[in-house]
Amino acid sequence: SAAEKGGWPSFMKKEISEEPEAVAKTLLGRSHDGAVTLPELDSLHDVLGEINRVVVIACGTAAYAGMLGKYAIEAWARIPVDVELSHEFRYRDPVLDGRTLVVSVSQSGETMDTLMAVKYAAQHGARTLSICNTQGSTIPRESDAVLYTHAGPEVAVASTKAFVAQVTALYLLGLHLAQRRGTLDGAHVAAQLTELQNLPDKLDQVVESASSRIAELAHWMSDTQSVLFLGRHVGYPVALEGALKLKELAYIHAEGFAAGELKHGPIALIEPGQIVFVIVPSPRDPSSLHPKVVSNIQEIRARGARVIAIAEIGDVAVVPFADEVIRIPFAAPLFEPLLAVVPLHIFGMELAMAKGLDVDQPRNLAKSVTVE
Ligand code: G6P
Repeated sequence: SAAEKGGWPSFMKKEISEEPEAVAKTLLGRSHDGAVTLPELDSLHDVLGEINRVVVIACGTAAYAGMLGKYAIEAWARIPVDVELSHEFRYRDPVLDGRTLVVSVSQSGETMDTLMAVKYAAQHGARTLSICNTQGSTIPRESDAVLYTHAGPEVAVASTKAFVAQVTALYLLGLHLAQRRGTLDGAHVAAQLTELQNLPDKLDQVVESASSRIAELAHWMSDTQSVLFLGRHVGYPVALEGALKLKELAYIHAEGFAAGELKHGPIALIEPGQIVFVIVPSPRDPSSLHPKVVSNIQEIRARGARVIAIAEIGDVAVVPFADEVIRIPFAAPLFEPLLAVVPLHIFGMELAMAKGLDVDQPRNLAKSVTVE
């Protein structure tokens, strides 16, 4: 109803505006004096010292959050992480034992594919942790432990604020594991926590600054038949998420690619007028992939692509090569995707609106898929 939307035209618009708060609330009370405190994981204390592998299982947007979790957990806790779609996982006799931590990620906590994968993992000796947004739902009840995201109820079918909350929770898990296993010292943990805590203000800035320009772009593109998304490293899952949003909301063909993979096939798709969103890494980081991504932009531009870059404020190097630049504030590399994803959420919504579609209830989709 209109009252539930609190004056917003759609749940989706409301929920995108709540992305900063979703991160803030997921962080709330979970650190003290520069250290992560997650009493929810106490029951796994011994296990977390012994595991030699993490497997993240999820579907849809939650699986892309899982991919970002992989980058952070491996970087900080030095534990190998696999990310798998729940419905693929349990049908291929996966290798599991008591040293495997299976982390499920689900907004609803009711996705049947993920639930069945969690049960399968437990039956095969793995320990299970649920990252979930819905208190008391089935997947947390079937898991050894649960780390709730606090994004608040998400009503629009396509997930937005739950995604940034899931990434936040996975990053907290990564820092918790790093503390438990001594792979990061206190100062490093504190520095990453500060990055996380700075995100809500930066997210506010993105929602504030990007919305109207993106709405204009979406109107201008309302006849577009296909959109590509390129990203590298943590920009890659963001590209996949941007593409999924366009499929779900605007019913147009969209694909996300790892920018390095372009030359191995996808570049053949580029023809004059093809719209390509590119998530550009920060140029400030010494190990940055920025020059490589800028050269990818040049390659597709030379073939006629229209490039919309998502780039850091102050990144001037990208300007001559992009048709449009959407700016995000500076964040350390692992934290950029939480900022870069917001313009893509807004774009999916605005393009659907420009086409006159129902952004909250896209055709053929359900908020929680409780069948296999
Ligand atoms: C459905 C929704 C997606 C969501 C996926 C996983 O397919 O349309 O937006 O990402 O389920 O849902 P979950 O509740 O498990 O996060």
